[in-house]
Amino acid sequence: MSSNPDLRAWIAQLPKAELHVHLEGTLEPELSFALAARNGVALGHDTPEALIAAYDFHDLPSFLAIYYRAMDVLVSEQDFHELAFAYLSKARSQNILYCEMLFDPQAHTGRGVAFHTVISGIRRAQVQAAAELGVESQLIMCFLRELSAASAMETLLASLPYKAWIVGVGLDSDEKNNPPIKFAAVFAQARVEGYRLTMHCDVNQQNTLMHIGQCLEVIGVDRIDHGVNALEDAALCTEIARRGIGLTICPVSNRFVVQNLTGEEIRRMLALGMKATINSDDPAYFRAYLNENLNALHEDAGFTAAEITTLVRNGFDVAWLDETRRGHYLALLGASLS
Ligand code: HPA
Ligand code: ZN
Repeated sequence: MSSNPDLRAWIAQLPKAELHVHLEGTLEPELSFALAARNGVALGHDTPEALIAAYDFHDLPSFLAIYYRAMDVLVSEQDFHELAFAYLSKARSQNILYCEMLFDPQAHTGRGVAFHTVISGIRRAQVQAAAELGVESQLIMCFLRELSAASAMETLLASLPYKAWIVGVGLDSDEKNNPPIKFAAVFAQARVEGYRLTMHCDVNQQNTLMHIGQCLEVIGVDRIDHGVNALEDAALCTEIARRGIGLTICPVSNRFVVQNLTGEEIRRMLALGMKATINSDDPAYFRAYLNENLNALHEDAGFTAAEITTLVRNGFDVAWLDETRRGHYLALLGASLS
């Protein structure tokens, strides 16, 4: 399908929210090289272009292998600051006014980087971006699901002194043989601590319908990251729509890991009254930030301006914002449409 430059410009100027972006997945090759030089880490490639050329992923495990290896360059508080500030600057350039950013503390504490180092660098970038760029952001702390529930609980406890800086907890990484129920006690405790709850149910994973069902019935999530396969079960769709649970869909990420933009699935979700939102997931790896994801839906799946408006509005509708802030952003969106 041919591109429509007018629609691209219109998408670019829309006030937007992003709710599913892994901070470690925003590590651009140029920044990798700068941090590798600073920290004396060998990247195994001579140029950022060669590093990108080695991004050879076709499913979740092959992506995750590259994603974790690349994190070795993140060592100091300043490194995490630069990572987060670079993403927030990029967000501002795309008129993303509000974002909820996921981070993976165990991917760093497991390499000997202190939780405090990670979160204080990110937090400093958030404060600076709010003041200097006018971008508001909140943090979602994810547990790595292939690690033990005990390790997740230890991470939850380590986060408590920083509770004011974290809006919610999530579950990511390798889903195979790692169902939501493995973390039921951790998420129950997170709820008691006041955190909002989300979990990844990546596309076409083993036992995905069982995992989505556990998210709803055992964990009591507020949101589901991905969750596209819920469409295979009418009862799950009805319940997700009834509870107003947001689904953070990542079309270009889907195109990499399941070779499909999932445009038709997104349309069906909207038709069923499910709160689908559009997000970038790991934009430095999939080479597409939020605007490029929306452009792809228009250009490759024929999404109209009205459909894109609904998806963007859903982002603010299901964001973990208080009603005053939500109203503020919805008013900005409304003004941009009139
Ligand atoms: N799925 C699961 N874990 C992840 C992802 C993802 O898409 N990105 C970063 N960690
Ligand atoms: Zn994700």
